[in-house]
Amino acid sequence: MTRPLIIAPSILASDFSRLGQEVQDVVAAGADWVHLDVMDGHFVPNITFGPDIIRAIRPVTDAVFDTHLMIAPCDPYIEAFASAGSDIITVHAEAGPHIHRSLQTIRALGKKAGISLNPGTPESVVEYILDNVDLILVMSVNPGFGGQKFISTALDKLRRLKALIGNRPIDLQIDGGVTSANAADIASAGANALVAGSAIFKGDGPEAYRSNISSIRKAALST
Ligand code: DX5
Ligand code: ZN
Repeated sequence: MTRPLIIAPSILASDFSRLGQEVQDVVAAGADWVHLDVMDGHFVPNITFGPDIIRAIRPVTDAVFDTHLMIAPCDPYIEAFASAGSDIITVHAEAGPHIHRSLQTIRALGKKAGISLNPGTPESVVEYILDNVDLILVMSVNPGFGGQKFISTALDKLRRLKALIGNRPIDLQIDGGVTSANAADIASAGANALVAGSAIFKGDGPEAYRSNISSIRKAALST
């Protein structure tokens, strides 16, 4: 692994009635980034939260806010997610015809730009935008819901993307069905940023979160 290992808990699996506390607890438990899943009920068949919720939890931590936009169109909302306090904004390759423009918009706002690929989308879509991205997210489930089973063909996609990235400063992220049981395979396929929701927010509170994060980290570092 050439880039630092990042564990990014998805708050989708947290207790929304105590969101601020959950964010603080998971960061205290060892999270590197906080992964924020934004869904619109149009690009994906579920609705979660928007920029106002992100703005509300921004003051509770200094941790990197890693915002994953599963919305279409995305361009009209990028500025709102930037000003709400996102540090990284990831848009889907499938969300519109002008991904290059979306990535430029994110960077022009001073934020890191990410591109996400659904399970059916080939890695070749990133070929001409490699100099415009800071992060590539490989979906290992069909986006929309937490708690789904890891689609193992994502491992091949990671290996191919790792080769395409070469030594560019790009984080390679995986999202969906990540657990301590598959983290070693994921890391050896080339991912350095691991998102996990249900595998981290299981059990009761900060102590459970700490041991869940540390077993994923240990497995990923074992390769
Ligand atoms: C899925 C989201 C994921 C999800 C991961 O659409 O993008 O971030 O919350 O949840 P788990 O780890 O439970 O698969
Ligand atoms: Zn996500």
